[in-house]
Amino acid sequence: MLVFVPPHPLIKHWISVLRNDQTPCPIFRNAIGELGRLLMYEASREWLPTVVGEIMSPMGAASVEFIDPREPIAVVPILRAGLALAEHASTVLPANKIYHLGISRDEKTLLPSVYLNKLPDEFPKNSRVFLVDPMLATGGTIIAAMDMLKERGLSVQQIKVICAVAAPPALSKLNEKYPGLHVYAGIIDPEVNEKGFIIPGLGDAGDRSFG
Ligand code: PRP
Repeated sequence: MLVFVPPHPLIKHWISVLRNDQTPCPIFRNAIGELGRLLMYEASREWLPTVVGEIMSPMGAASVEFIDPREPIAVVPILRAGLALAEHASTVLPANKIYHLGISRDEKTLLPSVYLNKLPDEFPKNSRVFLVDPMLATGGTIIAAMDMLKERGLSVQQIKVICAVAAPPALSKLNEKYPGLHVYAGIIDPEVNEKGFIIPGLGDAGDRSFG
């Protein structure tokens, strides 16, 4: 498995805004949306298929290269917090479908349970999917989501995970079960506490995004 933490000053900036416990909810939501946009931009590099052609510019014929509209691109935000991280996806992805997936983690057992599933029964052939969840903590949630994508016909090469903060327990589980996966993270933090929170992390990304 490959974990990319793009060395970009804007990514460091937005992570710092998110870490600050004084950042109010609407600013947090905007910051996490910006972070998601930058990470999706990085993850798109050499992954999204293009089509070449020729068009007329006002000054004459020009060769052009567009994202191929025949190849399906999808975003799967894991509710709730994934909605905020994916909020600006449409400004980097020219065309995409959004399939919502609601997963909540039990506060005591830390086990995930699915409460909303808008995934298709089978993803269209050649789909490319951005799986978006800000926090990879114990890893239960992201593994449950990956299992659901795999059951619906996707290979790991068709998925990129986008997250704000990743922690070692989640990364080791993903690496064990999905070794070919690519994960794009704003930062990797050292640990997860006994309540399942990433330390130092951002706090509860869902509550901080939506109040
Ligand atoms: C948080 C977070 C992840 C999950 C990570 O969601 O946004 O989805 O926990 O934990 P894990 O790696 O230990 O499974 P939460 O269940 O708090 O839901 P929310 O986004 O609705 O707040």
